[in-house]
Amino acid sequence: MSVLRTKGIGKIYHSKGNMSYRALEDIDLNIEAGEFVGVMGPSGSGKTTLLNLLATIDRPTSGELEINGIQPGKLSDKKLALFRRRELGFVFQDFNLLDTMTIKENIILPLVLEGVAPRVIEEKLKPLAIMLNIHQILDKRTYEVSGGQKQRAAIARAIIHQPALVLADELTGNLDSKAAKDVMDALKDMNERLGATVLMVTHDPFSASYCKRIVFIKDGKLFSEIRRGTNRQAFFQQILDSLSVLGGNFDDVPFARA
Ligand SMILES: Nc1ncnc2c1ncn2[C@@H]1O[C@H](COP(=O)(O)OP(=O)(O)OP(=O)(O)O)[C@@H](O)[C@H]1O
Ligand SMILES: [Mg+2]
Repeated sequence: MSVLRTKGIGKIYHSKGNMSYRALEDIDLNIEAGEFVGVMGPSGSGKTTLLNLLATIDRPTSGELEINGIQPGKLSDKKLALFRRRELGFVFQDFNLLDTMTIKENIILPLVLEGVAPRVIEEKLKPLAIMLNIHQILDKRTYEVSGGQKQRAAIARAIIHQPALVLADELTGNLDSKAAKDVMDALKDMNERLGATVLMVTHDPFSASYCKRIVFIKDGKLFSEIRRGTNRQAFFQQILDSLSVLGGNFDDVPFARA
C-alpha cells in the first residue's frame, strides 16, 4: 500500500523584485507502508523544501502529492489542519516539546486534542513509553531530562496517534553520538515493531544508516537511491560512497562514526 506518492512535484520560491528560484524540480517519490526512508543531499539541495511540501506546511508550485490516498492540496485550510494532525507525525531537530507541560502531557497531546478517553490514552501511553525507555521520566518537565530523552519523547508524541507517516528533520542534529544512537534505535523500533512509516532528512551518515532506503537529492532533483541489505555497517560505507559521488558541502559530517 502506498502511503506517499508524489508525481513531478516542484517548488519555485518567489521573492521580492520578481526574483524566482527553483528549489525543487520534478520529484517522483513513492513510499510504501512500513518503509523507513532517508533523504540526503548537500546544503541547499532542497531537503527542507521537500519535507515542508510533504508535511503540507507549504504547497508545491507544480505536480501532485497524495498522502494515504488524499490530495492535501485539495483540502480547505481547516480540513488540512485536521488532516495534518491525524495523518502525520513530526520530529524536529530542536524537539519542539512544550516546556510548561510534563513529558507525559507532551506525548499524549495528539490524543487529548482528538478527545480520546483518558483510560484509552493510558493504555496507549504505557507500552509505548516502555518501548522507548522513557517510562521513568513521564512526570518530569522537559528541562529536567536529557536531549536523548526529549527526542524519544518527541518520537512517542509523533507516533501515539498512529499517523500514516512520520516525518523527521535532522532529529539527531542536536544530540551527542550516544544519544543519537539511542534515538535512532528507538525510531528503528517504531518502524520494525509498530510498522510506522518514516521519512527522515539527515546530514548524518550514521543516522542515515538505520534507514532501509535512502534517496539523494542534488540541485533540487532526485539524484540516486540506495537500499540497505542486512548489514548496517556495510550500508554506512555505501552511504559515504554515495555522498562522495554526490559532491557538495558535507564538511560538517562526522565521517568516522558507526
Ligand atoms: N523561503 C524561501 N525563499 C526563497 N528561497 C528559498 C526559501 N527557502 C529555501 N530557499 C532556497 O531553496 C534552496 C533549497 O533550500 P532548502 O532549505 O530546501 O535546502 P536544504 O537541502 O534543506 O539545505 P540544508 O542542508 O542547508 O538545510 C536553497 O537555495 C535556499 O536558499
Ligand atoms: Mg534544511
